Amino acid sequence: MFDLKTPSTTDKAALYADLLSAADALTRDEPDAIANMANLSALIWQYLPDLNWAGFYRMIGDELVLGPFQGKAACIRIALGKGVCGTAAATRETQCVEDVHAFPGHIACDAASRSEVVVPVIHDNRVIAVLDLDSPIPARFDSDDVAGLDVLVALIASRIA
Ligand code: SME
Repeated sequence: MFDLKTPSTTDKAALYADLLSAADALTRDEPDAIANMANLSALIWQYLPDLNWAGFYRMIGDELVLGPFQGKAACIRIALGKGVCGTAAATRETQCVEDVHAFPGHIACDAASRSEVVVPVIHDNRVIAVLDLDSPIPARFDSDDVAGLDVLVALIASRIA
């Protein structure tokens, strides 16, 4: 039904531009937050190389609860301030971790994960979710990834609320 192009570039800026336009097209007219998070996880998985996990944790009450994702089954609930995800939610700042083993309190859902980036999703000045990407490659994520993901999350925040 959705005839999305397979990524044809390894240039990061071009990759994120393609991902952004695919994400926009796929979520623009869909009001259901879960459906949008599910498709966004699948798109990120399809477009970005070298990931072993990609998905959302939703802020429910005072904790993060597992949402739609791609990858292995993961821990379900994460307290605010705990792990990389809980830190991103508590500080409202993107966490880009080159070596997860060196991150105090990192929660190892998949033993293969070596690096991780977590972007808080802020809507109406509230953290409503975090977007979490894991990679088996150390230092997989850099400032280009953070910039690309920040733009993506700004676009989709109202569509997953
Ligand atoms: N590593 C995360 C937990 C979530 S999994 O990576 C899917 C953390 O430390 O918060």
